[in-house]
Amino acid sequence: MAVLVTGGAGYIGSHTCVELLNEGEQLIIVDNFSNSKPEVLDQIRTITGKDFLFYKADLLDREAIRKIFAENAVESVIHFAGLKAVGESVSLPLWYYHNNITGTLILCEEMQRAGVKRMVFSSSATVYGMNNPVPYREDMPTSATNPYGWTKVMIEQILKDLYTADPSFSISILRYFNPVGAHESGLIGEDPNGIPNNLTPYIAKVAKGELSKLTVYGDDYDTEDGTGVRDYIHVVDLAQGHLSALKKLRTETGVSIYNLGSGKGYSVLEVVKAYEEASGRPVPYVIGPRRAGDIASCYADPEKAKRELHWQAQKSLYDMCRDSWRFTEKK
Ligand code: NAD
Ligand code: UFG
Repeated sequence: MAVLVTGGAGYIGSHTCVELLNEGEQLIIVDNFSNSKPEVLDQIRTITGKDFLFYKADLLDREAIRKIFAENAVESVIHFAGLKAVGESVSLPLWYYHNNITGTLILCEEMQRAGVKRMVFSSSATVYGMNNPVPYREDMPTSATNPYGWTKVMIEQILKDLYTADPSFSISILRYFNPVGAHESGLIGEDPNGIPNNLTPYIAKVAKGELSKLTVYGDDYDTEDGTGVRDYIHVVDLAQGHLSALKKLRTETGVSIYNLGSGKGYSVLEVVKAYEEASGRPVPYVIGPRRAGDIASCYADPEKAKRELHWQAQKSLYDMCRDSWRFTEKK
């Protein structure tokens, strides 16, 4: 019996595949490479010394997805595949809704058809919207401020409705905070095309000298040093959270929601400092205006995952910066 991983060639998916293979799981990866490269699959094999099945397919291609379920004994699905750029989702909303929501609907329909009833889904802290107080708890109301965020809010609802209609499903919704870092081998990591939007990929390019300086988006927030505070989580810790969620899914039915964060917030300037220490390189910055849609602070209450999944983040901000830098240097 195998675990089907959608989006397994992507940033979080590839790290999760490494952890799954290390645990002895049989894997099938499906990806259309819309935001990843085939080389990542070889890197996963190199790191683990293990093999897996791969299908180059789009979740929107129902026949291709049906074929995967027909040809394999799939026991559960970890569903990463989706588009994730907030700004792009504002300019291309229909594409985001179609890819993320229709893709998930087709996947769920084909799972049901094949009798596969276990799913781990990649949600995001973005579903806490702009109005909840920190730390965020799983029972707080959800909302979104952009089409990407709405796809996560809507898919969460779809999965809850699916379980209500078919209580033999077992679904784990994981709300990730800010994943950063890379595998300690330096062979896989986050490698966005063009100029990065997110903080640590941008800092990495500044440290490497590919970009001249970071613009800090605002220093007048109600935080200790005035810059935005986020809950950064090492991608390998995050990957291990999926193993814990999968183990639990195998013992019960239902829908459970978990924050995967460290519970601790760091400011932009603290991240800059940690990256300078870890890389030994300067990260020059200027203070710019606030970025539209940003909030002052976002961090998790991680207690539910600790209690029910027996999972908690282990790695420090320094570890995240060191591993990000190792991957950046090797590129
Ligand atoms: P990623 O872009 O690196 O990985 C997603 C993978 O899915 C890519 O390899 C892409 O090619 C593939 N994909 C996209 N649409 C597909 C489709 N229709 N059919 C087949 N494959 C498709 O992104 P990531 O950072 O690894 O994120 C994984 C998941 O976690 C996403 O759902 C994302 O929204 C969610 N998430 C990410 C973050 C973050 O900051 N990285 C935060 C919260 C949630
Ligand atoms: N920041 C800068 N300069 C930059 C980039 C970011 O100062 O060049 C700041 C932001 O203002 C914010 C912090 O660094 O305070 C982190 O920003 P990111 O863009 O790395 O992350 P966000 O918290 O804004 O967004 C991330 C994901 C979204 C997801 C959201 C909530 O990118 O997809 O977390 O989970 F929706």
